[in-house]
Amino acid sequence: MNESPDLLETLALARDFLAREIAYAPASIARMNDRGSDSDSLTILSQEACSCQKCGLARTRTSVVFGSGRTDADLVFIGEAPGAEEDRQGLPFVGAAGQLLTRMIEAMGLTREDVYIANVIKCRPPNNRDPKPDEIAACQPYLLQQIEQIAPVVICTLGRFAAQTLLQTTESMGRLRGKIFEYQGAKLVPTYHPAALLRNTQWKRPAWEDLKLVRKLYDGTEI
Ligand code: URA
Repeated sequence: MNESPDLLETLALARDFLAREIAYAPASIARMNDRGSDSDSLTILSQEACSCQKCGLARTRTSVVFGSGRTDADLVFIGEAPGAEEDRQGLPFVGAAGQLLTRMIEAMGLTREDVYIANVIKCRPPNNRDPKPDEIAACQPYLLQQIEQIAPVVICTLGRFAAQTLLQTTESMGRLRGKIFEYQGAKLVPTYHPAALLRNTQWKRPAWEDLKLVRKLYDGTEI
């Protein structure tokens, strides 16, 4: 099997992580779905979003990319907005950046099925342009309700846009990443967007540090 250098690097980082820092608290393994997360409410919200006409992106989208994963996940990843592949498939992070995100999640000892993945904006902006303020405002209630219903322990934002939008700040990614913020009852850790990691490989190591912090918060071994 011919593994890409990228994958080998991720696996090497994961091996390093597992060898040195494995601390999977029994509490996380035994964690029950005791928050009363209601997948029916999320389904209803998703149906509402799928017919949303609140902004101009409704005219250009192929799909509404609501989110995917465990509806009672302890860990939620939040990106910016769907790209072309996500718009085609109706699923978040399924393009090149998504493949790296999948490997990042697996390097943390988890799978995509263990977590929930969503975006701030549910419809693809044409040509992947930055979302406009009216689009952000129209879409934000969906994300807020998703987080409320999933009630995760940890949120990991991917990239500047998601971190700045959720935290309502203009701070740079370099200053935000790796810090722990409180957000809707969860711990929020900003890290780099996987698409940015594909372009700037020197950010992979700090991103890995962020993911290790996320894993500790998920395990309850860092508060
Ligand atoms: N980039 C994002 O921010 N979200 C996706 O779903 C895909 C790429």
